[in-house]
Amino acid sequence: MMFTKHSISLFLALTATLSAAQRYYGPNDPRVETALTLQHPSNAVSTTPDGRLFLLYARVDGSTGPQVVEYNRSTNATTPYPNAEWNTFTNGSDPSGHLIRTNSQRIGPDGNLWLVDVGSPGFGEPVILPKGPKLVVVNVTTNEVCRVYPMGNATLYNSLLDDVRFNPGTGFAYLTDAGAPNLIILNLNTGDTRRVLIDDRSTDAYMPVSAEGNLLRASDGSFQHIYADQLEVSPDGEWLYYQPSNGGLSRIQTKYLDQSFYNSTLAQVLSQYREPYAHTPSTGGTAIDAHNNVYVSDTDSQRIIKIFPNGTMTLLVQDPRLLWVDAMWIDNQQKLWMPAAQLNRGTPFNNGTSFVEPPLYVFTIDIGVGPSAFDHA
Ligand SMILES: *[C@@H]1O[C@H](CO)[C@@H](O)[C@H](O)[C@H]1NC(C)=O
Ligand SMILES: *[C@@H]1O[C@H](CO)[C@@H](O)[C@H](O)[C@H]1NC(C)=O
Ligand SMILES: *[C@@H]1O[C@H](CO)[C@@H](O)[C@H](O)[C@H]1NC(C)=O
Ligand SMILES: *[C@@H]1O[C@H](CO)[C@@H](O)[C@H](O)[C@H]1NC(C)=O
Ligand SMILES: *[C@@H]1O[C@H](CO)[C@@H](O)[C@H](O)[C@H]1NC(C)=O
Ligand SMILES: *[C@@H]1O[C@H](CO)[C@@H](O)[C@H](O)[C@H]1NC(C)=O
Ligand SMILES: *[C@@H]1O[C@H](CO)[C@@H](O)[C@H](O)[C@H]1NC(C)=O
Ligand SMILES: *[C@@H]1O[C@H](CO)[C@@H](O)[C@H](O)[C@H]1NC(C)=O
Repeated sequence: MMFTKHSISLFLALTATLSAAQRYYGPNDPRVETALTLQHPSNAVSTTPDGRLFLLYARVDGSTGPQVVEYNRSTNATTPYPNAEWNTFTNGSDPSGHLIRTNSQRIGPDGNLWLVDVGSPGFGEPVILPKGPKLVVVNVTTNEVCRVYPMGNATLYNSLLDDVRFNPGTGFAYLTDAGAPNLIILNLNTGDTRRVLIDDRSTDAYMPVSAEGNLLRASDGSFQHIYADQLEVSPDGEWLYYQPSNGGLSRIQTKYLDQSFYNSTLAQVLSQYREPYAHTPSTGGTAIDAHNNVYVSDTDSQRIIKIFPNGTMTLLVQDPRLLWVDAMWIDNQQKLWMPAAQLNRGTPFNNGTSFVEPPLYVFTIDIGVGPSAFDHA
């Protein structure tokens, strides 16, 4: 480009309008505090009301070892959770009794720790059907698995069982499938499931995921789409918010999802009942607070967007250290936990090479509001 006076001002104008989709090089925000310093990427943290802390290691840096650990904040020691056996899946292990690849973990409204196991040994590898994909529930008092929900009937070989949220008012849980676009409705009592909004515009991804200004690619060089991924249930249980990882947050009243569980005619026409909620960017993770505000991490430009209950988006914080903040968490001290996992720099998106730069950080920021009781204890 010729840098005439005119083209420079045009260039600056373009830079300003595009800044939301670019890597952010601005100053650190002093409100962002370092909670944990890690050697490997963690894509989820959760805490119990009495302050116990659980971490999920994403293992996208080529490291091996336990996926789920309890983290001791006085000693910095990590212990495989619920134990080493569950965290050791080897060729020949029973897929239903071991964590194969855990994509998310969270304390639920019942106080148990819920682990979402994709059931495929590596990112992009086929799911081990039928016994691989599952939801594993751990009682954190006994530190033992108290229930396993098999998800083999709700998943396909190319599924990526992603995350779970709960509707304690109705006894249903909802899961996202980021590999074969749909939502899964789970009856927590019976364990029965339904797939809905299959390949719907709201669960499908019209663009690949983007991070630090670049579209992600899979190992075969193709663009990386990540379908239905983030989801949140409103604190009154009325709404489910959900989106693919490249953004575009939709919402649907949970009563239509719950009725669809029994009414297959309604399930066929569910798309009539979902609506756009917010035009979110490529996202690593979300969280919801007791006031029905949704927090969304922007993987391109290192910021956290807060979405008010009327759907208006506002900037909560922007900080160059917020590199692919994945699943966020709100503790009972009114802190938002932000695991900066650098996932886009990991092996799945760089043909097997890791560009993750340790140490990795889990940050917190005060948000002045606690978690939703429907979200977790
Ligand atoms: C952390 O480790 C210390 C020292 O071993 C122990 O006393 C404490 O109970 C541990 N805390 C948790 C939450 O496990
Ligand atoms: C735990 O880790 C933090 C951050 O790296 C460090 O400041 C602290 O000294 C560590 N504590 C112990 C007991 O090693
Ligand atoms: C695991 O077992 C399968 C079938 O038994 C075999 O094809 C595969 O090579 C084994 N993989 C490893 C890593 O040993
Ligand atoms: C966990 O186990 C303890 C001890 O058996 C029991 O009292 C408690 O109700 C269990 N928690 C949940 C959430 O089921
Ligand atoms: C799938 O559904 C059938 C029929 O309800 C049931 O027998 C089977 O155990 C289920 N399998 C899994 C892996 O969920
Ligand atoms: C990925 O790496 C393998 C070798 O490890 C190579 O054969 C392949 O062409 C690479 N793929 C792309 C898209 O660069
Ligand atoms: C099932 O849903 C369809 C479509 O919304 C509706 O017309 C029908 O009345 C429903 N059936 C029952 C038994 O509620
Ligand atoms: C949405 O809610 C926020 C927070 O209450 C408020 O500041 C904003 O003006 C509202 N926007 C609209 C369009 O009503």
